[in-house]
Amino acid sequence: MKFEENPPDAASLMMSARSFGNYDLPGALADLIDNSIKGGAREIALTCDFAGGAPEIRIRDDGHGMSGDELRRAMRPASTDPLVERSPDDLGRFGWGMKSASFSQCTRLLVLTCHAGKMSGCLWDLEDVDGWRMGVLEAADIMATASPELRATGGVEIIWSNCDRLSENGSLTVAEFNTLIVHARSRLALIFHRYLAGEVRGRRLTIRLNGHKVEAWDPFYRDHEATQVLEPENLEIGGRAIDIQPFILPHYSKLKTGQYDKLGGEEGFLRNQGFYVYRSHRLIISGTWFRLVRHGELSQLVRIRVDIPNALDHIWKITIDKSDAQLPAALRTRLRQIVEGLRRRSAKVFRSRGGRLDRTHTTSVWSRYSRGGEIHYAINREHPIIEALLDSGDGEQQRAASAAIRVIEQAFPVQAFGQDAAANIDAIHQTLADPEAFRADLLAALPLLLAQVNGDLTALEALLRSTEPWCEAWNTTESVLKEKGWMRAKSQ
Ligand SMILES: Nc1ncnc2c1ncn2[C@@H]1O[C@H](COP(=O)(O)OP(=O)(O)OP(=O)(O)O)[C@@H](O)[C@H]1O
Ligand SMILES: [Mg+2]
Repeated sequence: MKFEENPPDAASLMMSARSFGNYDLPGALADLIDNSIKGGAREIALTCDFAGGAPEIRIRDDGHGMSGDELRRAMRPASTDPLVERSPDDLGRFGWGMKSASFSQCTRLLVLTCHAGKMSGCLWDLEDVDGWRMGVLEAADIMATASPELRATGGVEIIWSNCDRLSENGSLTVAEFNTLIVHARSRLALIFHRYLAGEVRGRRLTIRLNGHKVEAWDPFYRDHEATQVLEPENLEIGGRAIDIQPFILPHYSKLKTGQYDKLGGEEGFLRNQGFYVYRSHRLIISGTWFRLVRHGELSQLVRIRVDIPNALDHIWKITIDKSDAQLPAALRTRLRQIVEGLRRRSAKVFRSRGGRLDRTHTTSVWSRYSRGGEIHYAINREHPIIEALLDSGDGEQQRAASAAIRVIEQAFPVQAFGQDAAANIDAIHQTLADPEAFRADLLAALPLLLAQVNGDLTALEALLRSTEPWCEAWNTTESVLKEKGWMRAKSQ
């Protein structure tokens, strides 16, 4: 056998690199931020300019930058061997990120750097690829293009122009562009929250997006007193530690409406339960159960932080865009056990928020009577919403409502409930999980309740504070009253 050179066609390979990974705008920005963090940056400034439909994005950091030679090497596709062991703080792996992330959004990638007072600049323009020849900027061009801050602080400045993919070939409107930027801000706040909060090596990273600081967004809500931090666990594969830290988030009744919406994220609590996998403290995957268990209502408060070192990239099968990984088989069994245990605890948080019977000072929906060893459950006719139902309409309608309530009580599924409770009480789920439905039901009931207190708003508030289910989720109830202007805003 003899060997011949058979190199790839430069233009075709660079075009294909546009589809490596599955980058969206925040994913692509995150890949460049990874490089800046590795490059020692403390401040990263992102500027996203719509520029009349031809967007330009700049990512500038104040790290140590690159020498001219280092920049040339960095511009090279597959600039490093993915098998080489990296320092534990290195967020890179493939030697592709800067190129593939940029080309996922634009066709023109310009990288400027200032290192030890010396400026260099290189360019890849996919519309003008000539073999493997790359553009190297003259000093005058660099000075004309670089921002004054780069010259002042040193570091790296990356400019994406001809953003055909980002702008969907120029069809993106300014409103859509702004929505993308808002989304990017919240994703970056989550992906880098531990860096932004100063939890990594005691150094706080600042990211500004169009001049505004990106604030860390902690998906575990560790600041909240009702968040449960459970026992951590350390697992090991390939001689490397994997740290597992489970949390149970507060029940929504303990959160204000804004907090609930924020913690639930764009897709709500149900979607955001699960594992949050961090590689060198940077979030790579969130809200997955790796098909170990199903996304369920009762586990919606469980979020489990998993910290993996970059030395295990091959075992986790990290992708180029750092947005996906596969759970190693060696961890499946133990993680499933952990998740099952947590689901039971999350279910308890839910169930304990449900109505408790026989509480003093609270009007319950159900009453429990125990006499001579016999127990009887009945719907409380004095509960305001039941009372309103029984009093509404003419005599015939009132008798029908009364009969309906008696039928419901008598048909209480004692047998089925007893069996389910004995088998697994945590699987029974009767409390309302969705605050939107809770709000809608309250809004529907308010006219009736207001009529009962003769339009007295102070009496209405007192009624709601002591009546199920509204007293159980007081934050939500209170926000509805405030929105209607029926309650004085109190400073709390
Ligand atoms: N902001 C920066 N500051 C300093 N060096 C940088 C910066 N951006 C890129 N580099 C250098 O360029 C190299 C290539 O970056 P690139 O993102 O393409 O690959 P990588 O980070 O090595 O691996 P990955 O493909 O996993 O991101 C980096 O290894 C780093 O040496
Ligand atoms: Mg990189």
